[in-house]
Amino acid sequence: MFTPHTTCRACGYGPPANAHYFKSETSKDKLESILNLGSLPLANSFPRGLDPRPGHYPLELLACPKCHLGQLSVVVDPVTLYSNYLYVTSTSQTLEDHILLLHEWLRGLGSFKSVVEIGSNDGRVLQIMRRLGAEFVLGIDPAKNLAKKATEDGIQTIDGMFDRDSVGRASDILSPVGADLILARHVFCHVDNWKEFLRNAALLSHGTTMLCIEAPWAHDTIQKVEWDQIYHEHLSYFTLRALDFAVKGTGWKLYAVRRFAIHGGALAVVLVPDLSDIRLPNNSVEEYMELERCAPGNWKGFALQAVSQQNNLKQMINELLENHQKIAGYGATAKSTTWANVLKLNRSQIYGFYDSTSLKQYTTVPGTDIPVIPEGGFYVDNPDVAIIWAWNFAEEIIRKNVKWTSQGGRFILPVPTPKFV
Ligand code: TYD
Repeated sequence: MFTPHTTCRACGYGPPANAHYFKSETSKDKLESILNLGSLPLANSFPRGLDPRPGHYPLELLACPKCHLGQLSVVVDPVTLYSNYLYVTSTSQTLEDHILLLHEWLRGLGSFKSVVEIGSNDGRVLQIMRRLGAEFVLGIDPAKNLAKKATEDGIQTIDGMFDRDSVGRASDILSPVGADLILARHVFCHVDNWKEFLRNAALLSHGTTMLCIEAPWAHDTIQKVEWDQIYHEHLSYFTLRALDFAVKGTGWKLYAVRRFAIHGGALAVVLVPDLSDIRLPNNSVEEYMELERCAPGNWKGFALQAVSQQNNLKQMINELLENHQKIAGYGATAKSTTWANVLKLNRSQIYGFYDSTSLKQYTTVPGTDIPVIPEGGFYVDNPDVAIIWAWNFAEEIIRKNVKWTSQGGRFILPVPTPKFV
């Protein structure tokens, strides 16, 4: 099940949801269509054996001319989207290094002893936060299996969506004060109702709470042609300008911004309570706002490059197959589902995608017949070429497979222009 989304979730631009379809079609004030990828399966719904498949849903990117937010034209029902959710925060040096950097930056902005993480997954980030000195940590995550695992591993985790119910439970635990730091890493773009999310976060705050939202930055998505970040979970393609509109009336104000390299380029934005008299620590909000280039014209250029990127990789694959090369994928990522379905790949072309996540192993890539193979099998199967679908971890993956490359194995990096690395 899915519902159309015709207005901008940040600034409200576009025809109202109840506008007549034909009227909205001719109306000038609608969101602009940027890239239509057709009907695709859910990117993280890796089916096992005869598991029922949740189906295909429209995947079209629209852009807002007013606040430049990119957003999908539909919202897939969260129950369908997350019921068979196999995303587990990766155990990786890249993530660990990033959290250290993020922590250092946040420490420079304010002190925090208690940390609540929204979308805490298996609790890995909170483990690091605790190791770095947080005295109290609390996670909130809708995936029951992950929340249970995190709690067993010593990170108290509320299982539930970030809504009034889980916020009430978190408030009781935090009582009588709120959290010093609320972390929302790579969760905000999964949220349909931004204002409600921000208002709920405000219920967990006190006078000097920092709310840190980290999300892939549309500016980087556009510059690096990361079109494969477009999938049903990512309802929005985040701009600072959009957040600036959305915070109005929610109890928060923008405080500081910093760009990080994680996940192909992310922006971390710290918000503080609107009524607090804390002065801005620097000009970062203004500077990033000026730097951002995500107008519909930028989005359209991105769409053209995305299509040529798709054609280039397809051509490379065809040439390799003509030369009888054995091709694998590295990382069964959500991005890889998008690629595999848009390029209509099957196992006779790419025999398998390797992945370290045990929950994904022995499944198939959604919408295809390509199996997900445990990462350990990579050396045994010894492909000639491997496409790095987990390109956000490319350095780490290349580093740990030098033995394979020194024996003639070749990696392809699909973005921003497909090439051998
Ligand atoms: P992720 O970065 O979360 O991408 P997406 O959001 O597109 O799903 O996923 C990284 C995937 O790559 C994850 O499934 C684990 C896998 N992976 C490996 O198999 N080996 C590795 O060395 C690394 C770093 C990741």
